Amino acid sequence: MKGLILSGGKGTRLYPLTYTSAKQLIPVANKPVLFRVIEAIRDAGIEDIGIVVGDTAPEIKAAAGDGKRWGVRITYLQQDKPLGLAHAVKIAREFLGNERFVMFLGDNVIQGGISPLIRQFAQSEHNSQIVLKRVAEPQHYGVAELENGRIIRLVEKPREPKSDLALVGVYMFDHTIFEAVDAIAPSWRGELEITDAIQWLVTHGRRVYPYVHEGWWIDTGKPIDMLAANSLVLDELEPRVEGHVDTDSRLEGKVIVEKGAEIINSRVRGPAIIGETTRIVNSYVGPFTSIYHHVVVQDSELEHCIVLEHSKIIDIPHRLEDSLIGRHAEITRSPIKPKAYKLTLGDHSRVGIL
Ligand code: TTP
Repeated sequence: MKGLILSGGKGTRLYPLTYTSAKQLIPVANKPVLFRVIEAIRDAGIEDIGIVVGDTAPEIKAAAGDGKRWGVRITYLQQDKPLGLAHAVKIAREFLGNERFVMFLGDNVIQGGISPLIRQFAQSEHNSQIVLKRVAEPQHYGVAELENGRIIRLVEKPREPKSDLALVGVYMFDHTIFEAVDAIAPSWRGELEITDAIQWLVTHGRRVYPYVHEGWWIDTGKPIDMLAANSLVLDELEPRVEGHVDTDSRLEGKVIVEKGAEIINSRVRGPAIIGETTRIVNSYVGPFTSIYHHVVVQDSELEHCIVLEHSKIIDIPHRLEDSLIGRHAEITRSPIKPKAYKLTLGDHSRVGIL
């Protein structure tokens, strides 16, 4: 089996963060989502991984490299334009050859990995197996209809869903998928849709089976989903302290303090993670917060947040909550008169003011 990770795309729903960086590299509990995907595929025993990349190729290549650090081989597959998930399969044809493969969206996080599923598919005669998850509002998802244990129809965002089983972004295929991606036409939004390709397999009598995933699964496409994934992953981590916590500080619950981090006269209530060489001084860090490397938080309070590297949060009078703060961002008090908000924000930034 081979692995195919989709890490192209535009990431418009995560602007402004994705103007300057790939969404798959945004850390969840201080580890980029893409690295979690690579590890899930590696843990399933797959060593050959293709990563489809788009405009952010240089950044993704610099971060993931040749894969040696995970004990895998990574091949990068350039997609000139984000023309759809089925288009990504098309351009990966040479890399995949005739092998069965798992395709994983590079911005999805799934609880418990995919090892049992890969084992099941590798030994089966199925042409395809699609991971599904029961969801509360199927009308917002691609939905699968089953009959006699097989998938018989896929409908994208149905107005009247016939099932509550949504496609979650992990798919298994054999070489028959190439016939399908060649046969389908672009959708109304100009993309070659993977749901159309799977529907083609079903219509042409190929064996397409479901795999219903019982744990949680999050597509980190929007800021609120990124925060939700962060909370779920943080909750599963084991606490550890590799940095310095002074005697005036208190850690409560599951807290990870990474190498070189300093907690001075502060309280950190887990689940939370404090990244390498980050300094938390005279502050409160509340549950479900991930603060990445080289950050300064001083005389401030934050909770349910993700803060990326090299940012500074200093002397903020109200608690920050539900926030996603990019790299090298600074949130400080401005003592200089006139008394006013002074903002330098990128396009599509959102600020909630009290
Ligand atoms: P999406 O989240 O559907 O698309 P997007 O990344 O362009 O985001 P947005 O809707 O916010 O603009 O993509 C799912 C994953 O697949 C994501 O990791 C990007 C990747 N992808 C490709 O690699 N090639 C493509 O042509 C598309 C559409 C997505």
